[in-house]
Amino acid sequence: MSQLRLTRTFVRRKGRLTQGQQRALEQLWPGFGIDVPEQGVLDLDGLFGRTAPRVLDIGFGDGEALVEMAAADPGRDYLGVEVHRPGVGHCLLCAEQAQVENLRVATVDAVELVRHHLPPRSLAAVHIFFPDPWPKKRHHKRRIVQPAFLDLLAERLVPGGTLHLATDWADYAEWMLDTVEPDERFENTCGPRAFIPPPPPRPQTKFERRGLRKGHQVHDLIYRLRPADAG
Ligand SMILES: C[S@@+](CC[C@H](N)C(=O)[O-])C[C@H]1O[C@@H](n2cnc3c(N)ncnc32)[C@H](O)[C@@H]1O
Repeated sequence: MSQLRLTRTFVRRKGRLTQGQQRALEQLWPGFGIDVPEQGVLDLDGLFGRTAPRVLDIGFGDGEALVEMAAADPGRDYLGVEVHRPGVGHCLLCAEQAQVENLRVATVDAVELVRHHLPPRSLAAVHIFFPDPWPKKRHHKRRIVQPAFLDLLAERLVPGGTLHLATDWADYAEWMLDTVEPDERFENTCGPRAFIPPPPPRPQTKFERRGLRKGHQVHDLIYRLRPADAG
């Protein structure tokens, strides 16, 4: 087990809440929001009101892609985590409009959520779409795809569960390969060091569109937690 790094993967971005986002955070939070306690593991069956396979979406941004996935996949529950409050407000507005029932959101550090509040073997899939790239070398330790985070995810995923990564930064795509491929608990579903052939099985996201406008190439990777290593 790697030593768990403590470096934060985010800095809180400034950004004003629109009136709609403010209203959503006040009025829609009771329906969709999870108030994560300081201590203790969450009762996911209680929070979703049923037992179902669960997908964790880390850093969902404005939440539009997350809501689209939840609406299209009513048999699974979607748990989104995002620290940027305007994004959370926007996500709640989308969730209200789409009338999704299988979505809950938390606005805490995803690393802390996974480490302290999610039970072992509680996730069928984890999505990390367009994580903050932290391009400068001295900031690479802030990247969320790290061996120590893989340790946590390997404990929270069910055997055969998937880890879907996407990035529009060529250097981060290589970093993801260099980080996950040597980890024998995870198997690349497309073969060694292979990216998913486009189009990937997910909606386009806001940051993806931003990257494409800048001429960036998008890379997706899907790993499966090997059953034998799932403990
Ligand atoms: C580059 S954006 C991508 C957003 C979205 N997935 C998309 O593709 O449009 C990365 C997001 O991850 C969030 N984030 C970064 N580290 C996080 C953490 N530890 N916990 C929760 N959210 C995090 C940031 O606030 C930011 O909104």
